[in-house]
Amino acid sequence: MNIVEIISKKRDNHELSAEEIGWFIQAYTAGEVADYQASALLMAIYINGMSRRETVDLTLAMVASGETLDLHDTLDFVVDKHSSGGVGDKTTLVVLPLVAACGVPVAKMSGRGLGYSGGTLDKMEAISGWTSNLPIDQIKKQVTDIGLVLAGQTASLAPADGKLYALRDVTGTVGCMPLIASSIMSKKLAAGSDAIVLDVKIGSGAFIKTLEDGRRLAEIMVNIGKDAGRKTVAVLSDMNQPLGHAAGNGLETHEAILALKNDPATPADFWEHCLKIGSHMLVLAGKADGLEAAEALLTEARDSGAALEKFKQMVAAQQGDISQIDDPSTLPQAGYMADVVATQAGTIQSMDTEMLGWTVVYLGGGRAQKTDEIDPAVGFVMPVRVGDKISKGERIATVYAKNQAGYERAKKSILNSIKIGPDEVDPLPHFYGVVE
Ligand code: URA
Repeated sequence: MNIVEIISKKRDNHELSAEEIGWFIQAYTAGEVADYQASALLMAIYINGMSRRETVDLTLAMVASGETLDLHDTLDFVVDKHSSGGVGDKTTLVVLPLVAACGVPVAKMSGRGLGYSGGTLDKMEAISGWTSNLPIDQIKKQVTDIGLVLAGQTASLAPADGKLYALRDVTGTVGCMPLIASSIMSKKLAAGSDAIVLDVKIGSGAFIKTLEDGRRLAEIMVNIGKDAGRKTVAVLSDMNQPLGHAAGNGLETHEAILALKNDPATPADFWEHCLKIGSHMLVLAGKADGLEAAEALLTEARDSGAALEKFKQMVAAQQGDISQIDDPSTLPQAGYMADVVATQAGTIQSMDTEMLGWTVVYLGGGRAQKTDEIDPAVGFVMPVRVGDKISKGERIATVYAKNQAGYERAKKSILNSIKIGPDEVDPLPHFYGVVE
């Protein structure tokens, strides 16, 4: 087969065969297709889309690019979750230890930042020494021993996603339904869990902007999961404003640690979100017969300190410095920190959450090129919400930057992202439904 012919076929909006998709994934993973050719194909897919059949074939080819984990020699039932990406979404850091502390083993393969959306691995790496680069043996042993593992793509598990994900991040090809569905579901199927809860984000800070598209993405992924014999549920959740207050890797890790400690500074929307995702995981695992009972178990796991302890066990097992969990003020600190205040009085009408995500990237918290190093200390903390009344001069956010120039740029971007006006506005809904 010939990569130029495959690119041209998709460029001309024709369906690719299973063989063509399978060949491309195998050849790109083996380094036989150049990044510039893969980028051209990704852009053609971005522009012309893929049918459901092509999306399923792409997912299965990506799973087949590496090994698949089978955890059943030591565990009966393992759960997993995944978010389709947003701003301030540090849910995994809290939900995984909560669920594991309730006695349900969790094995998750996460990704890095993608475009303007943050990535769990980058957030966790704010903790000194923590690594997601785990051999399959350790993944199996760790989830068996402590009930919790958080890995990255490896040379052996969904390696095609690892390569394509990094390429999409820097080629403007992230927000594309078949690419998102195949990226997420290939990781989930390769990681071998029995049940998967998908958090499909919808809104100005998500890759999927409308409820209709969110539902479509959820249905595609739930069907792929079910066809592969996994119990799969998708929660449709709002991303028209950042989740919680913190956006930026170390700041989000800090906020997640506070949530595990039941600190009163924990944003209510963030905790509510963790309960929702975690309760679906417990119900799928048969640990609770309803969402309410599951939420009670999760709350107890937080209040007893069991979830925090589980988080520490995972961090220690993956070589992280647990003293930073005991004292999160020792997480990386930014060189320059200052507030952004409202330039007019009124009600917050809306937020351009994508622009808020790019603000973190431009501060140094994301990548413009594949080889860019992330600065874990930068970002912002923004306690205001759509519908809040605000006075002139009131704090909208605190920016954590490398220097004053970074702060000034971020300030401008935050002020441009937040629309303040005279109209009363209702608070945003948190969830739009569930696809089962
Ligand atoms: N998360 C992923 O793993 N992949 C995507 O494409 C988007 C979110």
